[in-house]
Amino acid sequence: MKIIVRDKLKGKTPMLCLFIFEGSENIPKLRGITAKNARIVQSALDMRGKFGEIALVPTPEKPYSRILLAGLGEKRKLDADSIRFVSGKIAQKARDLRLKEFTIAPPPDSIIDTDVAVSQIVEGSKMSLYRFEHFKSTKMNREPNIVILAQNPNEISKTVTATEIVSEAVLYTRNIANMPPNACTPAVLARIAKQLAKKNELKCTVISKAQLATSGFGGITAVGQGSKNEPNLIILEYHGDSKNVKPTVLVGKAVTFDTGGVSLKSSDAMTEMKFDKCGGCTVLGIMKAASELNLPVNLVGIIPAVENMPGAESYRPDDIITLYNGKTAEILNTDAEGRLILADALSYGVEQYDPLKIIDLATLTGACVVALGNNIAGMVSNNDTFAQDFSNSSARTAEKVWRLPLDEDYMDMIKSDVADMKNMGIGKAAGTITAAAFLKNAIEDTPWVHLDIAGVAWTQKATKEKPYNPRGATGFGVRLVLDYLLSTANNRYSYLSINIPPSLNS
Ligand code: BES
Ligand code: MN
Ligand code: ZN
Repeated sequence: MKIIVRDKLKGKTPMLCLFIFEGSENIPKLRGITAKNARIVQSALDMRGKFGEIALVPTPEKPYSRILLAGLGEKRKLDADSIRFVSGKIAQKARDLRLKEFTIAPPPDSIIDTDVAVSQIVEGSKMSLYRFEHFKSTKMNREPNIVILAQNPNEISKTVTATEIVSEAVLYTRNIANMPPNACTPAVLARIAKQLAKKNELKCTVISKAQLATSGFGGITAVGQGSKNEPNLIILEYHGDSKNVKPTVLVGKAVTFDTGGVSLKSSDAMTEMKFDKCGGCTVLGIMKAASELNLPVNLVGIIPAVENMPGAESYRPDDIITLYNGKTAEILNTDAEGRLILADALSYGVEQYDPLKIIDLATLTGACVVALGNNIAGMVSNNDTFAQDFSNSSARTAEKVWRLPLDEDYMDMIKSDVADMKNMGIGKAAGTITAAAFLKNAIEDTPWVHLDIAGVAWTQKATKEKPYNPRGATGFGVRLVLDYLLSTANNRYSYLSINIPPSLNS
């Protein structure tokens, strides 16, 4: 899909798309619309512009064969997701019509900064046209090109380029996350990371099963020992800032399939557990985009990759294991495996990199789906400013998060009689928070944001239907974390809220 920015209608276009607000009396003014076409489109305004509503009006006069009116709903209710959502619908319509191209005009900049609108058009379109077709013998996908009409094509093209990079990273993340567990083992994830590193000039280290066992990674070793697909720890480094600046460490859970292990899941609960690697896939996507955007930050991505299987070699309930930081954990349930591999990865990150901050993403608990459903991720943090900054990025990207508390009472809930900790809390009480409490033991005092993406990493039963989140992995977290990194890097600004500084595009 090509995206071109022009300052006026030029040549023919099979479809011109205009946003209208609910109750608009007039279609938007646009140079190049002939009077006759304008009259015809005006007469179609009885669709009233309700949110997400689309009207397709054939137009008799060239240069375009049809005009599409897309309702944005009430002007005062326009939010950070409206244009992204509706653009997705438009792009899918263009694909259904098998158009080679469509032309779209952002709403006037008196209503929303053109830059922001354009980035949302790009994200909405690219993310909506995604399909996972890797295993289909006939591929369906035809993607229309997009012409965006904007007054300042040179400036706006930079926004388009940056947003294309971010959106491509989301699709990249989805592609890996959607891979089935027989095709995407920990070894395959390591290979994917190495390919990315080679292409984007990142440093990549993979710690093998044998090295993990001898270096004290008791969590990854225990969880991984039941599968013939060997575990590993993937580390990617990106230097966008000077060498002496401490990095931000990103940790992502990558359980390529979670059967529950000896504490086997029921068949119903086990389907879709290929998505238990989504956190790790998100970290790959973030590393990809950060390096392509030349973000002025230092980043380390750490991905513990394992398969959680039952078998003669598996770890078991009642085992006591020693984690990377030396703390011991009593295993009550082998299905609470995520926190064990993450604890190793987090402590390793703290020890090796003395990070400025740590962010982790994990499909960690079913309890998070119970608490927040399929549209909001759980957030736990030990730092109020950090958590607030994340909430701001969340509002801009519409990747929603809700913060849960983590005080001492919860830390007590994972105390064990026979070891330093146990790998689950008390019954089902506060399952998301007791999992986070376990992780907190691994990070010490480093400012930390933990995102439990169990409900949002792929489309599930109660997922709100959004054109830009088609069935399967959503890539949740890629845009959110990139927005956060952009907003804090040398106090530059979010690509969604304010103009991207030119240096980020060069
Ligand atoms: N990967 C699961 C969590 C999960 C469940 C993610 C459903 C997405 C959808 C995790 O490893 C797990 O099994 N957690 C257990 C923990 C429990 C045994 C303390 C859970 O949530 O049931
Ligand atoms: Mn599990
Ligand atoms: Zn899991």
